[in-house]
Formats: sequence, structure tokens, C-alpha cells
Amino acid sequence: MRGRVTKGDFRVKYTILLVDDETSVINALYRAFRKDGYNILKADNPADALDILKREKAHLILSDYRMPEMDGITFLREAMNLQPDAIRMILSGYAESSIIISAINDGGIYKFITKPWEDDLLKIEVRHALERYELENTNKRLIEDIESKNEYLSHVNKILADKIDKIEEGVVNTIEMLSYLSKTKTLNLTGNIEEISRIGKEVGKRLGLGDKGIKDLYLAIKLHDTGNIGIDSCIFNKSGSLTSDERVEVKRHPVIGEEVLSFLNGFGEVAKIVRHHHEYYDGTGYPDGLKGDEIPLLSRIVHILDVYDSLTNNRSYRRALEIKEVEKILLEGRGKMFDPAVLDMFFSVLEGK
Ligand SMILES: [Fe+2]
Repeated sequence: MRGRVTKGDFRVKYTILLVDDETSVINALYRAFRKDGYNILKADNPADALDILKREKAHLILSDYRMPEMDGITFLREAMNLQPDAIRMILSGYAESSIIISAINDGGIYKFITKPWEDDLLKIEVRHALERYELENTNKRLIEDIESKNEYLSHVNKILADKIDKIEEGVVNTIEMLSYLSKTKTLNLTGNIEEISRIGKEVGKRLGLGDKGIKDLYLAIKLHDTGNIGIDSCIFNKSGSLTSDERVEVKRHPVIGEEVLSFLNGFGEVAKIVRHHHEYYDGTGYPDGLKGDEIPLLSRIVHILDVYDSLTNNRSYRRALEIKEVEKILLEGRGKMFDPAVLDMFFSVLEGK
């Protein structure tokens, strides 16, 4: 049946506040809207209406314009302070344009309707206004919901990132243990990994590496000689010079290192850097004889750091060299062993420029 209000009708959850100093107007409006199932509040003056708004929620306020104590626009402006979300409408016999403009600009009025009104048209306006209210509130709730879910997701992401960091840390610790074992075999325990990591990170940054590149570089610096574990320790601990077969054996360590690291999920890039950390810029290095830009950038960085670390620390077959000597050796390798651009960047970091 037309106009029948059921329990689920959206109108039953909305409250309309009617404000008019003429009792006959209030009663006529009350009858019209009550039939539609709205909850109705009434006041015959603005002061009482404001008191009601302090106590009760109104979704829509329909107010007369001309009232003895306070005009409708002033009243609705005060009502806006009490209940900013409520839709405000004026019902007035005075339709001068200055009043309408003031109502819209000063009172935040949604609609200005002239008296006498037609019930059906007024009801349609009110219904549209409340549907808009519902839509805006639904949107607001959805946005709040999305924001709160986003907040929760970023919290969960952070927990996951922390856990991944811990897992990676565990893997790195395991590999470091392997690396340590390989170094005990080679008696090459000296070296300042922290300083090398710091220099490497700065060189990487200056060469434009992102967070992932810096992280891979850090891991490769720590793990580049992991493959030593697969080499016969007698070769490393031999006091005389190596035979050509022994040199071939030692040169297997980057490939063994790559194979070991390839077992670990997420270490593909690091494994590749490790494989190529003894390639020479001029193509005479090993294991693949890659040349120039064919060598991964991070391998070119690790190569310089590795040689610097070796020359500045004691080895079983020689003492640590003076820094001037180290710099001279590195410069002699510029463009041969080492990428000139990366070497220049390395020196600028070393000199604190
Ligand atoms: Fe190496």
C-alpha cells in the first residue's frame, strides 16, 4: 500500500525537529511527517529547540524563518554548533532573495522552502535530504572503516617485516657461522667487517642504490667468501706459493659460495653478487671472465672492498700494508681489476669527502 510505513523503512530511524512559533504550522507538519514514521520533536521557539538539541539527536531541523526571539537563520547557525551533522531547512513565508542568500551562506541551510507548502513536495524534499544524509554517513563510516583497516594492515605489515628481518638475521647468522668456519680453516680471521660494511653502504648510496640494493650489498660483503668452506684447508695454510692446480681450486670459492647461498630463499641476488666478486673490469677475472658493465655493480663494489680489507689486515703470508701502499695498489688496478667510477667513489668515501 502506498505510503505505508514498515519497521524496516529507513524513515523510522530518523528524527526531525520542527521549530515554528505558530502552533497550527507545527501541528500540520507533525501530522504530515508522523504518518510517514519519522520520530518528531517539536518546539515553538528557538530557545526551547536549542535545549532539545542539547539533549537529543536530530537528523533534520525544519525551522520557520521569522520568530519573535530569534530569526531562523540565527537559530540554525547555533543549531549547527550543537549538531553539525544535522540537515537544516527553512520553511518561510518570506522568500526575499537576501534572506535566502543569508540562509545559505550564514546558516549552512540545505533547502529554503516557501510557505504555504504542499505536503507531498515537502515530504519529497525531506526524504531526499535524509537519503543524502544517509549516503554521506555511510561514506564517512566506510572511509573510517578503511582508515582503521589500513592502520591495522600497516601494523600487521610492520610485525611481518620485523619477523622477516629476524628470519633473515637468523639465516645470515647461520651463513656467517659457515663463513667463520671457512675462515678458521684459512687462518684469515682478521678483517674489519663493520668498517667495510660502513664504507660499502656509503659507496652504494652515492651510486644510487635503493634500500634493497644496500641490503643485498651488506649481505654480500658479509658472505662473499662463504665458498671457502668447500676448499681444501691445506691450500690456504700452505706457506709457499700455490701450484697452478691449487690456484684453480681456490678460484672455485665464488661458485661454491653462490651454490651454498642459492639454497636460501630470497638470496638469489646475493648469490649472484658473490659469484662475480672476483671478476676483473678488463675481463681477466674469474669465474666467468665478465667485463665492464657485464659484471653486476654490487660485485664490482664488493671486489674493491674485499681487496682493500685484505691489504689493510694481516694475513698468514704478510703483514697489513700502510694505507698509502694500499691506495697505490688499488689505483694501479683502476680500469684493470676495478671499475674506475666505483673506485673513485670508494676513494671519495674513504677520504671523507
Ligand atoms: Fe673471495
